Amino acid sequence: MRAAVYRRFGPPEVLALEQVPDPVAGPKDVLVAVRATTVTSAEAAMRRGEPIWGRVILGFVRPRQRMRTLGIEFAGVVTHVGEAVREFAVGDEVFGFTGFAIGANAEILRMPAQGSIARKPVSVSFAEAAAVVDGASTALYFLRDKARLHAGQKVLVIGASGSIGTYAIQLARHFGAEVTGVCSTSNVELVTSLGAHHVVDYTRADFAAQGVRYDVIFDTVGRSHFRHGRAALTEHGCYMATTGLANYLWVAWTRLRGGPRVLAGMSVDKRAALPCIARLVENGELRIVIDRVYPLEEIVEAHRYVDSGRKRGNVVITLAPEPDLGERVDAPTGGASSPPPT
Ligand SMILES: NC(=O)c1ccc[n+]([C@@H]2O[C@H](COP(=O)([O-])OP(=O)(O)OC[C@H]3O[C@@H](n4cnc5c(N)ncnc54)[C@H](OP(=O)(O)O)[C@@H]3O)[C@@H](O)[C@H]2O)c1
Repeated sequence: MRAAVYRRFGPPEVLALEQVPDPVAGPKDVLVAVRATTVTSAEAAMRRGEPIWGRVILGFVRPRQRMRTLGIEFAGVVTHVGEAVREFAVGDEVFGFTGFAIGANAEILRMPAQGSIARKPVSVSFAEAAAVVDGASTALYFLRDKARLHAGQKVLVIGASGSIGTYAIQLARHFGAEVTGVCSTSNVELVTSLGAHHVVDYTRADFAAQGVRYDVIFDTVGRSHFRHGRAALTEHGCYMATTGLANYLWVAWTRLRGGPRVLAGMSVDKRAALPCIARLVENGELRIVIDRVYPLEEIVEAHRYVDSGRKRGNVVITLAPEPDLGERVDAPTGGASSPPPT
């Protein structure tokens, strides 16, 4: 099969399409013909070998042999089921998350049937299904499971135009919160269209200096700091960031000290979240924002774009032609976003 492979950490050009052996399924595995996958900011960082502590998993000097194909999100069709698999059948359309096993930027993917894999929402394309996996499930994990967000609370989403951020805005609305998004001028319209009640343009104003107190501050891109955001939290509010080891020290400190808390964590097991996300998508409650779509052959270009730090929503890689996506290939910057599924 063909896969995007990298053998050393570095710029996007370290990636190349190669012919590699097909994966072999065990009795509890399924094989998936990948139709669409994505390039996330997390994988662009892995390709660069960042953060440095991540090399404990990735490999110290160069990527480990089994981690040379990136890709954590996928959507595709089951082509083989192991003899112990009861959950899926050949021909099922699925979507899911590979986690630390990565490997989804390839034509065929081996997945444990008990892993983070579920039936794809029927109302959307493979590209859209791949683009809703990590961002939406991470937003759900932080807002619902960590912050226990509920109706009437005020929430601030920093990085509201990114992958996690676009879903966080919509999920926070879904939970009945009053939502403020933080983004730059060019993304104000997008964030408003996703349902934010208020938008703070970070190029013109500081959210912490506006005299508004939030029950939850969710920094999806790790650009803020608790020390700065604390002034904008209610007495029992919480601050969460998706990145930054230092946050874990703040978690312990704020728990001991009382007052506003810092919460941290990693959304890794998405098995339970995926059917919930599929339902929200099918009910038209979650819009999937796709910025650009590239064929697998242009994976280097896709990484270059993600490295810019300016992507809006998600960057998708397609592996098989989908007629409805033709016009999105090479979409100009500023990107397309899917209409709400009906
Ligand atoms: N903890 C976990 O479980 C977990 C899970 C998944 C991902 N992550 C991490 O989460 C991070 C975010 O991922 P993502 O894919 O959602 O990000 P992303 O899509 O790459 O974010 C890009 C967006 O960030 C915005 N941005 C850049 N600087 C900003 C600033 N100072 N203030 C507000 N917005 C800003 C950009 O908008 P502008 O152009 O308008 O600036 C752009 O639209 C990654 O570092 C990833 O590793 C953590």
